[in-house]
Amino acid sequence: MPRALITGITGQDGMYLAEHLLGLGYDVSGMVRGQDNPKRRTVEALLPDVRLVEGDLLDATSLRTTLQHAQPDEVYNLAAMSYVPYSWGQSEVTAAINGVGVLRILDAVRALTGASGSRANSGAGVRFYQASSSEMFGLAQETPQRETTPFHPRSPYGAAKAYAHYITVNVRESYNLFACGGILFNHESPRRGAEFVTRKISLAVARIKAGLQDELVLGNLDARRDWGFAGDYVRAMHLMLQQDAPDDFVIGTGETHTVREFVDLAFARAGLDPERYVRVDAEFIRPAEVDVLLADASKAHRVLGWRPQVDFAGLVDMMVDADVAAVARTLPAGERPVRRTERRTVPHAEPEPEAPETTQERAA
Ligand code: NAP
Ligand code: GDD
Repeated sequence: MPRALITGITGQDGMYLAEHLLGLGYDVSGMVRGQDNPKRRTVEALLPDVRLVEGDLLDATSLRTTLQHAQPDEVYNLAAMSYVPYSWGQSEVTAAINGVGVLRILDAVRALTGASGSRANSGAGVRFYQASSSEMFGLAQETPQRETTPFHPRSPYGAAKAYAHYITVNVRESYNLFACGGILFNHESPRRGAEFVTRKISLAVARIKAGLQDELVLGNLDARRDWGFAGDYVRAMHLMLQQDAPDDFVIGTGETHTVREFVDLAFARAGLDPERYVRVDAEFIRPAEVDVLLADASKAHRVLGWRPQVDFAGLVDMMVDADVAAVARTLPAGERPVRRTERRTVPHAEPEPEAPETTQERAA
């Protein structure tokens, strides 16, 4: 039975990846940080077969201990401070976790495998996945973006991710470690944190429909993203570590849409008119914006045989329907709305979303 260690197990991708690997017969360990982390209970309830181990990307000793306990064949480093706006206000901690934290875990992997600095003493026994990001392209030097597109990060988050990506490539080239950088474009789901724009919109639609909220305040509606479904993207992470040689891959759908288009489809799904509810406020405009992201994932199609299964409209429907259902469950029985929309087919079981009150509080 192959063994995997996932850092960031309490996050959106960590949970989908754990489900995927358990389904493939893996023994899965997940790294959890912090004292009495409330998301630990979510993972325990949803994924009882995952063994939880304590560790923090800020603490080198804990990483070495975690790896000793897990004895993984594959390490998926998904842990990060992942909310871009925070990275301006907390740029040092962003660099420490998302940048130097990756160096720390790579050092711990090398210590576990005995790789000590020479290519001859190879650490090839452990395969390592780094969660790189399309935010590294930032002020994109070409569109669509592919593996060879130069980076021009527009946030401390993007800059830290670029360091992490380069140090992953450097460890691969210096010590022969099987280390891959997955350059993933935005991917979403009903498990997405409520601070990200897609989930902020789907939750607001559900709450407006239930009469619990009367406006949705957003920032730049013209920003374009290549949005996919997280459940599709974790398959690509696993595939990268099954190849004969380590490499970097762009993962995205090859379609780009504005925030405004997401708003329009989400409100339409619930039979609501966005003009009545959506307001733009400078509070949500960023110091520097990434205007357009669009993936050229042809290398992943060719080498990994990877293709996404959920399209943009399917993703919006999935998220709105999940939040409408979750909000309805919180209402007294007599006040639950009757579902008026016909469902489009979504080829994945919908996961249980977080309790809307909790995520809404976090989004505020
Ligand atoms: P997420 O839901 O925000 O999850 C982030 C995870 O990192 C959480 O489990 C969090 O744990 C953990 N974490 C944060 N700081 C940590 C630290 N110091 N030590 C250990 N764990 C720590 O993010 P996601 O959407 O699943 O994304 C997964 C990874 O992919 C991230 O690295 C993100 O930057 C990257 N990425 C995401 C996307 C996307 O569109 N989702 C695209 C490209 C790249 P707590 O529960 O303790 O907070
Ligand atoms: N969060 C948020 N809130 N974004 C808004 C809002 C709002 O009220 N209004 C407009 N936006 C715009 C942002 O300005 C941005 O252009 C776009 O919506 C997407 O924002 P997010 O959903 O916060 O995601 P992100 O693109 O900044 O970052 C996500 O994707 C990256 C990959 O490209 C995160 O998951 C990162 O961790 C990931 O690396």
